[in-house]
Amino acid sequence: MKELEIYKNLKVVVTGSTGFKGSWLCFWLSSLKSNVVGIALKPEPGSVIFDQLGLKKKIKQIYLDINNFEKLNKVIKKEKPDIIFHLAAQSIVSLSFLKPTETIMTNVLGSTNILETVRRNKVKNLVYITSDKCYLNDGRSTAYYENDILGGEDPYSVSKACAELVFQTYFNSLLINSEKLNYATTRAGNVIGGGDMKKDRIVPDVIKSLKYNTELVIRSPDSTRPWQHVLEPLSGYLLLGSLLINKKLSYKLKPNWNFGPSTTNCKTVLQVTKKIISIWGTKKNITIKSNKKFKEAGLLMLNNKKAKKELNWSPKLSFDETILMTVDWYKSFFKRKNIERVSAEQIQYFSSK
Ligand SMILES: NC(=O)c1ccc[n+]([C@@H]2O[C@H](COP(=O)([O-])OP(=O)(O)OC[C@H]3O[C@@H](n4cnc5c(N)ncnc54)[C@H](O)[C@@H]3O)[C@@H](O)[C@H]2O)c1
Repeated sequence: MKELEIYKNLKVVVTGSTGFKGSWLCFWLSSLKSNVVGIALKPEPGSVIFDQLGLKKKIKQIYLDINNFEKLNKVIKKEKPDIIFHLAAQSIVSLSFLKPTETIMTNVLGSTNILETVRRNKVKNLVYITSDKCYLNDGRSTAYYENDILGGEDPYSVSKACAELVFQTYFNSLLINSEKLNYATTRAGNVIGGGDMKKDRIVPDVIKSLKYNTELVIRSPDSTRPWQHVLEPLSGYLLLGSLLINKKLSYKLKPNWNFGPSTTNCKTVLQVTKKIISIWGTKKNITIKSNKKFKEAGLLMLNNKKAKKELNWSPKLSFDETILMTVDWYKSFFKRKNIERVSAEQIQYFSSK
């Protein structure tokens, strides 16, 4: 992707650099020859992606809690980034019921700290990642536009809606804006791809059960979700960032952007599970249990018209390709193949589409 050449030699801060999406983003940016500074907590036990992508050697990693404003501000002041991609968050919906305070603290106050350090240090460009769950899910069967009402019921969705509102006040009242956009928020769908090992996410749950031959339990087989490969939203964030840096987007466009999958990628949990099993190539019984623990929100689809028109961005991978690339990555990992090479090839394949 030619537009991404601008990242060469730029100083780029990625928060959430040890997580699933953040690690892929750091890897992609370092392949574009950016000077990447990662800010995150240490990788969680069982997490593999940061190590597998060789990021210890490729980026400058700083372990800090974004709730600690003094430490965060000191790093940003020193590093003087050209752009920040903010992805650090408590990202699991089910965990947000168990740890609501921590979820709201990091996702709202931690994100406020990012905005405040951007303001104090006059950081020129920011891509601020929230979630499709920031929209108030009113049960409609049509897609959500960027200017739809924010809201939610579970603590995670509420934290993401609040993070958007805090962004709104900084954008409208506290940050210095020109006639061109410098700061943006993004909302993506259910992101899957190689290297995610988090509990309570369907793909890692299915893969681990196939690999270790444990019982495969799924809880909401009929829930339809907007599945997308990790490279899809990341390509949107990078493209958006490049246009912010190049001052190509008018302030009038408003700072909020959807990067959702196409409607053909909206499938049920059971369909995804069966597809993974068939590509993995073994037989597996699926145990279905009812989900009494947490109230599940219905499907929320994103309308991508704005990103298509203004950024020339649209999803590239079919549902089958999305699952195939995901399963391929995990198979390569378990076969101890060179994951840096496998991941670089996936980025190359994606970019060539
Ligand atoms: N994965 C998805 O399906 C999905 C969908 C929509 C939006 N998102 C959003 O995208 C972003 C990245 O998601 P992910 O799947 O990579 O999440 P992840 O859980 O894999 O990674 C989270 C990252 O945030 C860091 N982090 C958490 N709390 C922190 C704190 N207090 N201080 C510093 N760092 C902290 C972690 O160390 C980790 O690097 C999140 O904002 C998430 O809410 C994810």
